[in-house]
Amino acid sequence: MSNYHIKHLEEYFQVYRKSVTNPELFWEEIAEERFLWRKKWDRVLSWDFEKPDIRWYEGAKLNITENCIDRHLLPIGDKTALIWEPNDPSEAAQYLSYRELARRVNKMANILKKLGIRKGDRVCIYLPMIPELAIAVLACARIGAIHSVVFAGFSSVALATRIQDSSCKMLITSDGSYRGNKTIDLKGIADEALKSCPSIENVLLVKRIGSEVQLQSGRDHWLTEFWEEAAEECTPELMEAEDPLFILYTSGSTGKPKGMVHTTAGYMVYTAYTFRNVFQYKDEDIHWCTADIGWITGHSYIVYGPLLNGATTVMFEGVPNYPDFGRFWEIVDKHRVTQFYTAPTAIRSLAKESLDYVNKYSLSSLKILGTVGEPINEEAWHWYNDNIGKGRCPIVDTWWQTETGGILISPIPWSTPNIPTYATLPLPGVQPALLDDEGHELKGNNVQGKLCLKYPWPGIARTIWGDHQRFKDTYFSTFKNMYFTGDGALRNDVGYYRITGRVDDVIIVSGHNLGTAPIEDAINEHPAVAESAIVGFPHDIKGNALYGFVTLKESGESRDHNNLKKEINQTIAEKIGSIAKLDKILFASGLPKTRSGKIMRRILRKIATGDYADLGDISTLLNPEVVEEIIEKSKEV
Ligand code: PRX
Repeated sequence: MSNYHIKHLEEYFQVYRKSVTNPELFWEEIAEERFLWRKKWDRVLSWDFEKPDIRWYEGAKLNITENCIDRHLLPIGDKTALIWEPNDPSEAAQYLSYRELARRVNKMANILKKLGIRKGDRVCIYLPMIPELAIAVLACARIGAIHSVVFAGFSSVALATRIQDSSCKMLITSDGSYRGNKTIDLKGIADEALKSCPSIENVLLVKRIGSEVQLQSGRDHWLTEFWEEAAEECTPELMEAEDPLFILYTSGSTGKPKGMVHTTAGYMVYTAYTFRNVFQYKDEDIHWCTADIGWITGHSYIVYGPLLNGATTVMFEGVPNYPDFGRFWEIVDKHRVTQFYTAPTAIRSLAKESLDYVNKYSLSSLKILGTVGEPINEEAWHWYNDNIGKGRCPIVDTWWQTETGGILISPIPWSTPNIPTYATLPLPGVQPALLDDEGHELKGNNVQGKLCLKYPWPGIARTIWGDHQRFKDTYFSTFKNMYFTGDGALRNDVGYYRITGRVDDVIIVSGHNLGTAPIEDAINEHPAVAESAIVGFPHDIKGNALYGFVTLKESGESRDHNNLKKEINQTIAEKIGSIAKLDKILFASGLPKTRSGKIMRRILRKIATGDYADLGDISTLLNPEVVEEIIEKSKEV
């Protein structure tokens, strides 16, 4: 029986039973197997979900980059670690061997040190999907700096909020980025953000698009200034198991984004283990995860998981529809990709185009397909299975979160029989529970409730940067002794899980988590807006789209409503990013409210989906008359 290459369902059940009967022994065995520890742990696990306080492999000392890179140099130094595919297919791809990756990471690490970065300092990375992004992440880890990658599609305000929240000392960015046929002025956005970020002492700039940029003397430096003379060796910083490795921000249903903190040893063991198991990784495989490294999927399954296993990982700078809708499939053939991991929203957007874009390519290298980020609908699942996998590639519908560090519920290829739309079974070591609203665990099968985890796994986030109380309140206070995911799920007659969606005010649009509160805050800053409420509604491609119900101040009422809609979306793009723009906006004289003044989003959600029949009892509302008005107006939006 192997903990890794599980071969059939019975073996999965055996490993699973072992993992929950004695979790510490299980995770100790995994940690013993294939990592370089400078000192072994004194204790595998101590935990208390009340506080919450979770520690894995305490007492151990290590550096994750020795495990991602150095450990592979002797046996497979010339193997390709990273394949970089540019936005434009006419530009050459880059192939970085483990040896070359080591050289570049060490150089970058030495440059960070030269610019004053030390263990524990926070470094914000705001880069497009170019090799320097992965290199910067690893360089931080090399010297014990805590990286905070901010997706390069975020606006200057979003960037500033994240830099301020964790008082980053340095920003690594580029002159600009390519995205399909567009270029984006990243340096300009960064400059705007930095007006309100006094903690930043230095900006390190990567040249990507060759645009003219303004350098602020003493603060801004081109990477090339230091590159040649930087040494190729950099002694890795010795880290404690629970030293923070990175912060990654995720939207909450209320308030500012939450800086999820992941620590070193547990995250390492968990991403390495899940990568190997879920993707059934073999030495000759070429793994491509299409996510951006700005999201957790990219952290765990482009950078850390694959490199910890000595794999070849593909990093793609571009978008699925440039120069045409066949770009993904062209890349699969070009690099002989074996595992292809993407989001349902990408699948849906490609499925609506002609199959000619797919059929031009053989896709014969593919072995396993994956999806992540949101529920996959049955139609998209079948399109993926039939046209991309040609019916011969298992699909792993992987359920997890920024907070979980790695995949928690997923089929294991060739072992777990697939049922479309089901994430199926928990991975070894993962103990899900479904709870009813009163906090009772629903035992047995054929039940539906709120999805929780009742036991820690090594990849779980340890806190929210600077706000442990919020960590406790958000995840550990809804139900006693449980980590609450914020998702609803059902367990069918064979024990398979199907994720039914968020049960809080987070809406997943094109696989991106968007909290309603920050978007409402952004809209409310528009001078003509009095109040707003955002709800999601089903969308063919994005999964969900956003519907904004807005009331205007008197000054707004007299203005052209179409212009106002444009301005509101512009405000959202500036404050958050284009991904949070509203598909529909309805102006009303009021929003339905309870007598205590709470907006009744439940009613707005129904109206947004055109479901007017069963709005429930509205007589208790403070202002039932607005419901009729909103229904009428919604027919025209
Ligand atoms: O609602 C679940 C949904 O995405 C949320 C987590 O989003 P984020 O932290 O951005 O991480 C996304 C990538 C791991 C979850 O709470 N979600 C994620 N994967 C699935 C999913 N919903 C259904 N099926 C999935 N496979």
